[in-house]
Amino acid sequence: MDPIRPGAEAAEYSCRAEAYEASEDVGSNASANPTIGDVVNARFGRRDVLRGMLGVAAVSALAGGAGLAPTFRQALAAGGSFGFTEIEHGVDETHHVAPGYRADVLIRWGDPVVEGAPAFDPLNQTAAAQAQQFGYNNDFLGFVPLPAGSDSSDHGLLCVNHEYTSEEVMFPGLGRQDKADFAGMTRELVDIELAAHGASIVEIRRQDGAWALVPDSSYNRRITGGTTEIAVAGPAAGHDRLKTSADPSGKLVIGTLNNCAGGITPWGTYLTAEENFNGYFWGEAAGHPEEAKLKRYGAPGGWYAWGKFHDRFDVSKEANEVNRFGWIVEIDPLDPTSRPKKRTALGRFKHEGGETVVAPGGQVVIYMGDDERFDYVYKFVTAGSFDPSDRAANRDLLDEGTLFVARFDEDGGGEWLPLVFGEGPLTPENGFHSQADVVIDARLAGDLLGATRMDRPEDVEPNPKTGKVYVMLTNNTKRAADQVDAANPRAESAFGHIIEIAEAGSDFTATRFAWEILVKCGDPAVAEVGAAWNPATSENGWFASPDNCAVDNRGRLWITTDQGSAWSKSGTADGVWALETEGALRGTGRMFYRVPIGAEMCGPCFTADDRNLFVAVQHVATDGTKDYPGFERDSTFEDPATRWPDFRDDMPPRPSVVVITKEDGGVIGS
Ligand code: FEO
Ligand code: CA
Ligand code: CA
Ligand code: CA
Repeated sequence: MDPIRPGAEAAEYSCRAEAYEASEDVGSNASANPTIGDVVNARFGRRDVLRGMLGVAAVSALAGGAGLAPTFRQALAAGGSFGFTEIEHGVDETHHVAPGYRADVLIRWGDPVVEGAPAFDPLNQTAAAQAQQFGYNNDFLGFVPLPAGSDSSDHGLLCVNHEYTSEEVMFPGLGRQDKADFAGMTRELVDIELAAHGASIVEIRRQDGAWALVPDSSYNRRITGGTTEIAVAGPAAGHDRLKTSADPSGKLVIGTLNNCAGGITPWGTYLTAEENFNGYFWGEAAGHPEEAKLKRYGAPGGWYAWGKFHDRFDVSKEANEVNRFGWIVEIDPLDPTSRPKKRTALGRFKHEGGETVVAPGGQVVIYMGDDERFDYVYKFVTAGSFDPSDRAANRDLLDEGTLFVARFDEDGGGEWLPLVFGEGPLTPENGFHSQADVVIDARLAGDLLGATRMDRPEDVEPNPKTGKVYVMLTNNTKRAADQVDAANPRAESAFGHIIEIAEAGSDFTATRFAWEILVKCGDPAVAEVGAAWNPATSENGWFASPDNCAVDNRGRLWITTDQGSAWSKSGTADGVWALETEGALRGTGRMFYRVPIGAEMCGPCFTADDRNLFVAVQHVATDGTKDYPGFERDSTFEDPATRWPDFRDDMPPRPSVVVITKEDGGVIGS
């Protein structure tokens, strides 16, 4: 129990918003749909799991009784898809990358982005300065090559999400605020927070082996939570439930919030996913027609002071404002004057990401997770086809198509269920009067369709080389004991698992699929009993709490982790893991990079030649620092657990983008 956040289970969630979320008894999905645990349990018998565990333990014993590590190290030495030497596990004040690689900080919170932006001055920050500087808590990273349409790997536009803010390490003299009154928060601090949310687009170039920003590039752009105008497109545009006193049209929203993961479309636009939007709202919606529906989305969450100073974040005044967040937003980074669009056809939920792939028939498919305990996996299939020869023809491709939600069957099959107004239960009798209602209330539609309740779906990544799709399920410690059986052995799943989907006919538009578990994360020798990992044996190919992932251009899967403060159980900080998906080593990982204490690893992104890997180091110094030997307290601006990356007494820790290259210029992971 974290005394700063009453009721929160810090070990499960990393970001502040998620920590508050954890204080609820369960996720907001009270439907009776079976959980993925039910299905997994039905699919694999306990005997199989035990046999697998005994097998590992027996091999380990044969290897000399030194735990699992020698077994995996020996196997890794014998082959696999990756050639690097795994880094040592651990937690300390800086970051680490595999031998033979370099990891360079490319851009940090507060660095100037747009022309004329002031230098970062953390003691005298203003909203106006922040709106021109790199935002906080970088998450998704996308790379759009320059020249446009090329596959350049040394010049391009880096598209960066800024998910949320951490006031205790951003602002002097504040500490973590009590959410009952946010006594230290002022209008100016709130406006800095709004300006630190959203996205950055920066032109970057590699010269003489070193990456750097192109200063004052006309492409450089900030999109914020507080001032950027964003259009609403698709079925919900202009709907009454999106109208507010500030926007009677229901078609123009100020800002994008809690931008978590995302995607880059085949036509070079940037999709940014609005995740825990509920946390920014406070107040009482009692008696409002939206009250019950707000609750299904966990709103108002009351995690920020914004409602104190901005009526639109107070649901007692503007309940419809909540409906204007929770969307996928499309931004054209190649046109810095373009207005971003919320693409409502892709549904409204706590969007983790929006990874795209072109199906054999030319349609574009976007895979999406809804990051909440017991919520769903979705995909969207465009009605039209991608036109590689005419960029403008793809401009509004995301406004028409079919949104599907996944049902995982006990026999290893599954079905994508269409969320279409008038079909099945999505009718006026059940509260759906149009496709606008279906997309605004996508979660409620999924409930009625019988979608499978999952263990917090994060990134969902298609592999265009194999036709497979990988679903990161980060954890769900709220799975009750009576939901547990043999195949999903962790009643309170602290370490998560990854599912591999094979679409029927290797066609990403298919409505049927097969699935299996690629890996149950965490060391199986201890995960079932919930014991702490033994650092002496943790270098064994197992990792915990997958969140983001990327498939490189060779078709290899890379995972990044978000353990929250559970790193104290795993014996290592979060990081990047190379994960085998084929052969004898299938499901085993190898740690390539790790972050400083209290940080989370986000945004893995490769250039087309696989020789550059961009990663986002998020919320440095904030998580679980009480468990760090010798520190043993929460970080503050004045007293953080680390001052990475600057290590200057006058600089707080700064979330930063890091670029990883091989010293010999070779392929990452080769
Ligand atoms: Fe923002 Fe689901 O991580
Ligand atoms: Ca995430
Ligand atoms: Ca991804
Ligand atoms: Ca995360």
